Amino acid sequence: MNKLRHVISAQQLVDREFLDELFACAATLEQEDKLRVLEHPLRGRILATMFYEPSTRTRFSFEAAMQKLGGGVLTAENALDNSSASKGETIADTVRVVSGYADAIVLRHPQVGTAEIAAAASPVPIINAGDGAGEHPTQALIDVYTIHRELGRLEDLNIALVGDLRNGRTIHSLLPFLCRAPGISLTLISPPQLRLPGKYIQMLQAADTRFAETTRLARVQPADVVYVTRVQRERFDSEAEYEAVKDSYRIDLHVADSLKPQSIILHALPRTTEISPEVDQDARAAYFRQARNGLYVRMALLRYLLT
Ligand code: NCD
Repeated sequence: MNKLRHVISAQQLVDREFLDELFACAATLEQEDKLRVLEHPLRGRILATMFYEPSTRTRFSFEAAMQKLGGGVLTAENALDNSSASKGETIADTVRVVSGYADAIVLRHPQVGTAEIAAAASPVPIINAGDGAGEHPTQALIDVYTIHRELGRLEDLNIALVGDLRNGRTIHSLLPFLCRAPGISLTLISPPQLRLPGKYIQMLQAADTRFAETTRLARVQPADVVYVTRVQRERFDSEAEYEAVKDSYRIDLHVADSLKPQSIILHALPRTTEISPEVDQDARAAYFRQARNGLYVRMALLRYLLT
């Protein structure tokens, strides 16, 4: 695979060799960080984080990653109001200007396809940190890394995807990785209104990935990985439509107890009501470890893109 310039879609990241190297690098960086012997290969380099939608983990972990590698950070949170977008500047113009100050740009935007538009205008790497209900490819890297670390493999797994499969961009970005892995069997659990869009169903069919769609949460029971998503309130046309589905599923102690002992529960976070806090104590609850992994996977990615 050619060296990546921008990271826009998970489809660009599925190469086995690339993933092995990135994940090995992430694990090494974690060790070095724990021993406090990290080097600073990105000294003098600057990362701009431009967030036109709310974020905690993604922005902070990218910024922490850059700083741990010796680089600096320029940040625009709430960029819809606080950047020149509020004066009517196009994303292409903003990116062209910011690329004069920064060596890479992490971009989150409510509109599908914005990262691609930005990449076309940018001489420095653009990293898609979420484009509306489109994709969130670096979250998928973290999810795949976490599955590997927790279960030792990505093959021959029964994976349940639960919740808002229509709007959940982390799911959309995870699927290309799952399509490539042999022996994956997917259970897609959602209310009828929040089913996985046809484009992704076709992706599964084209890859001959085994999958079943259902509305029943009880179908999580045989899964090795239960990946839960938040119902994406900000993507609904009306509050009434959101209210109708917002409490469709809840992983509580009763559901967690029904899972296999060696299974894991993932969630990109933030959660609302879809996983009860009591479940956090269960060893299978891997979502906070998953969030922590984000730091090291993003460090590895920044090092790959900028050295
Ligand atoms: C996710 C997102 O922004 O898509 N959050 C994240 O980056 N960890 C999931 C969500 O907001 O539900």
